[in-house]
Amino acid sequence: MDTLHFSCIQIAIALLLFTQAKSTTEGSTSALHPNDAIPSCVAGEKSALLAFRAGLSDPANLLSSWKGDDCCRWKGVYCSNRTGHVVRLDLQGNGQALAGNISSSLLGLHHLRYLDLSHNRFDKVHIPEFIGSINNLRYLDLSGSLFVGSIPPQLGNLSNLRYLNLGYISDNTYSTDITWLSRLTSLEHLDMSGLNLSTLVHWLPSVNMLPTLKVLRVTNCLLKNSPDSLLLSNLTSLETLDLSENHLMARFQMG
Ligand SMILES: *[C@@H]1O[C@H](CO)[C@@H](O)[C@H](O)[C@H]1NC(C)=O
Ligand SMILES: *[C@@H]1O[C@H](CO)[C@@H](O)[C@H](O)[C@H]1NC(C)=O
Ligand SMILES: *[C@@H]1O[C@H](CO)[C@@H](O)[C@H](O)[C@H]1NC(C)=O
Ligand SMILES: *[C@@H]1O[C@H](CO)[C@@H](O)[C@H](O)[C@H]1NC(C)=O
Ligand SMILES: *[C@@H]1O[C@H](CO)[C@@H](O)[C@H](O)[C@H]1NC(C)=O
Repeated sequence: MDTLHFSCIQIAIALLLFTQAKSTTEGSTSALHPNDAIPSCVAGEKSALLAFRAGLSDPANLLSSWKGDDCCRWKGVYCSNRTGHVVRLDLQGNGQALAGNISSSLLGLHHLRYLDLSHNRFDKVHIPEFIGSINNLRYLDLSGSLFVGSIPPQLGNLSNLRYLNLGYISDNTYSTDITWLSRLTSLEHLDMSGLNLSTLVHWLPSVNMLPTLKVLRVTNCLLKNSPDSLLLSNLTSLETLDLSENHLMARFQMG
């Protein structure tokens, strides 16, 4: 047995080839919100936002500004200053949190590129499959949102996605098949920390199809099998890899 058994030992690998922290450039640069140059809202998109709000419960009144004609002035809503379309929804909960149901009326926001629903309390519902049909999404953050159940493979349809954060959604979030990841060929940042991936045996091949990946975090995922080889042949852009807090059988082979 040349296999070192590192069960219950934290194994942390940080490959920091470039030290500068990743900035927030994943966001849409066209989403400006200067008070003097706010574009006005597209009527159909306003209806979509109101239908979305109708499914939510909002005990802390986070969305109290969601009234009046110009949805581009509503809190967390950002419109393109060029086209007036809603391009970004920034609805991070931060303790005061939204709950309820996510309405598929979000599909009416045809130009949405950025969706942040992190740190809310969607604690009795699954991640809606239709999120995989918001075709233009570049940025999706569902971390800490307390969704339950399995990660819908429909997310693999988001071929424009650069940033995907599924970190620590809840204790009851899992995935038994991550092959859909291999279709996210523009992905640069992937965080699956805290997801229950305990049934996965060969998890690296799906990830190894993502040549633009810079950050990969799979901390605390109940992974039992280390990658067969950490040569990571396709991951030529990788800057950060975090595999800590798993129960890996270590057979590391660093290239
Ligand atoms: C609109 O946004 C673009 C970037 O997308 C920026 O260069 C331009 O200055 C903005 N125009 C106004 C009027 O703010
Ligand atoms: C969410 O949907 C469920 C079932 O369809 C319903 O019972 C519940 O009242 C909804 N929640 C809100 C906030 O609308
Ligand atoms: C999205 O992905 C699912 C499963 O991965 C697939 O069955 C479905 O046809 C896809 N939908 C579209 C619109 O591409
Ligand atoms: C992880 O998920 C598997 C099924 O996918 C389940 O059997 C197991 O109990 C889960 N473990 C934890 C700690 O939730
Ligand atoms: C590397 O990625 C390409 C597609 O990007 C894929 O066809 C190939 O199978 C991958 N190689 C490995 C070793 O995973």
